Amino acid sequence: MSFPKGFLWGGATAANQCEGAWNVDGKGMTVSDASTAGTLTEPRYTTYLTNDGKPGKAIMLEELPEGAHRAVLDGYYYPYHKGIDFYHHYKEDIALFAEMGFKIFRMSISWARIFPKGIEEEPNQAGLDFYRNVFEELKKYDIEPLVTIFHYDLPVHLEEELGGWNNRELIDCFEKYTRVLFKEYNGLVKYWLTFNEINSPILLRNYLPNYSDSMVREAIQTLHNQFVASARAVRAAHGTNPEMMVGCMLGGTCSYPLTSNPDDVLANQKRLQDDFYYCCDTMVRGEYPFFAQRLWDEYDMKLVTKPQDFIDLKEGKVDMITFSYYSTGCITVDENAEKAKGNFTTGAKNPYLKYSEWGWSIDGKGLRYFLNELYGRYQLPLMVVENGLGAVDTLEEDGSVHDPYRIAYTKEHVLAMHDAILDGVNLLAYTYWGCIDLVSASTGEMKKRYGFIYVDRDNDGSGTLKRYKKDSFYWYKKVIASNGEDVD
Ligand code: BG6
Repeated sequence: MSFPKGFLWGGATAANQCEGAWNVDGKGMTVSDASTAGTLTEPRYTTYLTNDGKPGKAIMLEELPEGAHRAVLDGYYYPYHKGIDFYHHYKEDIALFAEMGFKIFRMSISWARIFPKGIEEEPNQAGLDFYRNVFEELKKYDIEPLVTIFHYDLPVHLEEELGGWNNRELIDCFEKYTRVLFKEYNGLVKYWLTFNEINSPILLRNYLPNYSDSMVREAIQTLHNQFVASARAVRAAHGTNPEMMVGCMLGGTCSYPLTSNPDDVLANQKRLQDDFYYCCDTMVRGEYPFFAQRLWDEYDMKLVTKPQDFIDLKEGKVDMITFSYYSTGCITVDENAEKAKGNFTTGAKNPYLKYSEWGWSIDGKGLRYFLNELYGRYQLPLMVVENGLGAVDTLEEDGSVHDPYRIAYTKEHVLAMHDAILDGVNLLAYTYWGCIDLVSASTGEMKKRYGFIYVDRDNDGSGTLKRYKKDSFYWYKKVIASNGEDVD
């Protein structure tokens, strides 16, 4: 037996990718509300109006022209606007999670439901009520909520009028938002995550071709402001209720040197420092790591800080480390090596691994390796809060969905966690990503399905939104019932 009694099995989602109801009950507009649908080959765009009212679009992760305002335009399809309508289906969906035996459910709160612009004096009661109802529904089935406070959906006002996370005012806005949440949901929510994949701003330099040094400098400043915001949230949570456990959440950029060439080994070490440990060390230890100055010098970065920031960082160290893990990458100095795709794990193709239809490597053993690395470095409890396979599923006429590929993928990762726990790693939870089909973040598709539950909705927004149980639903139910021992 490996998984400890009380191990938290569950699934994960994010507000913008599943809730829909993008403009109801007082919710404000977020940056992701202006994201169009894309495909594997066609990027997602952010649509906008220029200062003089001309419509335009920019690739989602790129900068908009000076003075442009995000706008919803005719002739585009915005898949987040309806999502899978979790907003109106949450009772039905939670009942299905309970049927699988979930012990924990990871979800995010949309900041703009609570503070529509992010700056109001008083929170929006309808937004607070919605999440209270969701948490109470979860409690009915003894499912612990694991709440991400910020998952890629900044209120537009904070981005456009205040300049986004480069402006320190957002630290105060975020602190106010988090204090409201901790007070409001004290007793209902024990587990919190501050920023989803906080390392993502720095990762963009690896795969956006026109990501300039000045954009990297902005990313480093954004990270500083978010570290301080996160630390203040941790302190506020502990002040509200010492039982609350607050974690950092990082994109798990596990990578290997492509060869035993020492140059590849050093390049991989540097990549891990810059992409992962820079954030994780700071949030766990409450101070920047030894190699931070080397990174700053490389980009000629003059970090803007205040003396109080360093006190906040020390007083707001996280209680646990959580991360997403989908695939691994290979790092090499050889520019001619064949390139691989992945959400964050870019780099060279690994000849020992298989790749998904979206080109992401499948590497269960890498999860065991990564869990050991993280526990060895920090000795803090860990949670795998995203892991899963995006694939094309077929809904059969009888309402069944046969997805042996998803079962195989998940089994590989469950076995890896099993081994890591036997290695001595303290792993608290596993929340499978997209436990119910939802809109893909990178491509905006519905076709890229992760769920154990199929949702009848297509790339163009057609479909009944009816839910169906896939084969993996019954498989995961068995895994949970046996506490991870029966995976066949
Ligand atoms: C993670 C994000 O990076 O990857 C999720 O936190 C996202 O929001 C997930 O959905 C899977 O990526 P995608 O692009 O397949 O949806």
